[in-house]
Amino acid sequence: MNKDRLRLLADPAVRSAFGREIGFDIEYHASIGSTQDRARELGRAEQGKPVIVVADQQTSGHGRGEKSWSSEPGASLLASWVFQPAPSEPALFALLAGVAVRRALRTFGVADIGLKWPNDVWLTGGKIAGCLAHGTIDHLVIGIGVNLSQRELPTDIAETATTLKRAGHEIDRLALLARLSAELDRVADPANRALALAEWRKRSITLGREVEVRDSGTATFRGKAKALAEDGALLVETPYGQQRVLAGEVRDLG
Ligand code: BTN
Repeated sequence: MNKDRLRLLADPAVRSAFGREIGFDIEYHASIGSTQDRARELGRAEQGKPVIVVADQQTSGHGRGEKSWSSEPGASLLASWVFQPAPSEPALFALLAGVAVRRALRTFGVADIGLKWPNDVWLTGGKIAGCLAHGTIDHLVIGIGVNLSQRELPTDIAETATTLKRAGHEIDRLALLARLSAELDRVADPANRALALAEWRKRSITLGREVEVRDSGTATFRGKAKALAEDGALLVETPYGQQRVLAGEVRDLG
């Protein structure tokens, strides 16, 4: 039996009680283009309240860069949180959000979760979640997609992604939303940042690896991922010296 309760949020009374409980206003959509686009609109409107936009399905979700993030109804957690003011720079917060996802999933018994720079969450079988941040000084939107039970993953990511269901975990999206909101609040507090960064370094599947880096421009280079800076930048040792990458993609070369 499917015990997923996310769709209960369609009921205004449930939504408002749940929102009070977790400390965020909730905007629920059965289907939306992208929760991130909608949350960014709300952030720009500067209403000053913490809000979550959550959907059962997205029809044109965004991944990092130019990638899309597609989803069949009911099979993923798709949500974007608006924080006002911004707790940190977007790049750093997206990385901290990976730590929050890891912590949240651990409370549901998911073990062996690794963090891939910049903000991917992996199980041994592949990527299970990604985070995307946008913002200014007055607000930050963090969007998170968690693969729960998709039957088929899009062909472009099928080789590198997996779902929690395939790994043997059936998780109620409403419970995960609540846990994840609490963990995001925790990493948003600057007093907890050093601990969260230390956890990222400890659970990283990128540090110490040979990688190919495509930075946010067009440059591609290879080297060894040596360290994570305090602002979330990856420090990569190359034959031409150390490179500092704040935004980009890495491919593991082993
Ligand atoms: C990535 O790994 O490329 C980031 C994926 C982020 C996907 C989430 S799903 C909820 C929110 N809405 C979007 O359109 N994207 C983010």
